[in-house]
Amino acid sequence: MWEQDVDINEVVEIRSKSTVYLGVGAIQKIDDIAAEMKQLQIEKVIVVTGKSSYKISGAWEVVEKALQAKGIAYRIYDQITPNPTAEQVDAATKVALEFGAQGVLAIGGGSPIDAAKSVAILMEYPEETAASLYEYTFTPEKAAPIVTVNLTHGTGTEIDRFAVVTILDKEYKPAIAYDCIYPMYSIDDPALMTKLPRNQSLYVSIDAINHVVEAATTKVASPYSILMAKETVRLVAKYLPIILQNPEDLTARYYLLYASMIAGVSFDNGLLHFTHALEHPLSAVKPELAHGLGLAMLLPSVVKNIYTVKSAVLADILAPIVPALTGDAGEAEQAAVGIEKWLFALGVDSKLKDEGFTAVDVARLTELAMETPSLSLLLSLAPIEADADIVTKIYEESLSPMCC
Ligand SMILES: [Fe+2]
Repeated sequence: MWEQDVDINEVVEIRSKSTVYLGVGAIQKIDDIAAEMKQLQIEKVIVVTGKSSYKISGAWEVVEKALQAKGIAYRIYDQITPNPTAEQVDAATKVALEFGAQGVLAIGGGSPIDAAKSVAILMEYPEETAASLYEYTFTPEKAAPIVTVNLTHGTGTEIDRFAVVTILDKEYKPAIAYDCIYPMYSIDDPALMTKLPRNQSLYVSIDAINHVVEAATTKVASPYSILMAKETVRLVAKYLPIILQNPEDLTARYYLLYASMIAGVSFDNGLLHFTHALEHPLSAVKPELAHGLGLAMLLPSVVKNIYTVKSAVLADILAPIVPALTGDAGEAEQAAVGIEKWLFALGVDSKLKDEGFTAVDVARLTELAMETPSLSLLLSLAPIEADADIVTKIYEESLSPMCC
């Protein structure tokens, strides 16, 4: 394939509403980005990150030098956890406001970047809170400039207008989508991802797969979202097994990262439906559950239930994973079992029961999927009617393996 002819050490510039630098060594672009921030009179930034990956990945060493060289002062908020909470966003916003930060620099995977996007909004609306932002009591139109150094190959948040934060006391994990939180610049450097643990590497790529399966089958799917869906599945199917054997394989990391980025563009256009709307209640109730694992457990049943009305597109985009599909509407079970077998072969073989959920939990999960702010919008985009009965059915079918 043509991928072998691409020089992955050549950093390329990818423009959407965000500008993304992709390639081995892209982290060095932080020098140019810092220079531009200075030109824009951004003299102080809040760095939003998790506890350690910003250092372990090697990103911080380069970023710190660039900020110092350009005379940009910074404060670090390093308390963002997976499934970031409204409290963390409020705490980081407080640090940013007290410091007088004019920009936000996120270093990390989806959680720090989504938290940083939320902080960027609240810096412009200091009278508001993360809870009011995610409960939709106001509509932001502006945010502080956002720069991201992305450390995982799954969420696509470095190139899209989405962010997700959990409101723990309500067990809500809503999503927001605003044009003002497209990052100004993002860095996608696969060399920063070779230390990602095995399971995290798996779960983030499975997140990307779910983004495109949904974005290609919503009511607003387009040839554009389908094109990127097809390429995302092809690249993940090809390169994910390689990094499981050799985590340091930079070519494989590059294409997984590229796949997750175009998956981000795919769902920025085609949006999402069942799998994300039903996963968010799972990780809202159990914040220790990885988003990608939650999605993996639900995907076979989601595909089974939508296949009849989306058989042609699903057979096409899923061909690298389930090659026997022809697009016949009667293949729903075969498609679902094929996806589950692919996931299990990768080592992702948990179902909801294995993660501590039981049939008793289904009613509460269904309620959360129907009432959490923003999730009903996603459900309204599903290709079949998404009422409480079908939501319940998908949760129930996802408790245990579909087959053998
Ligand atoms: Fe996701």
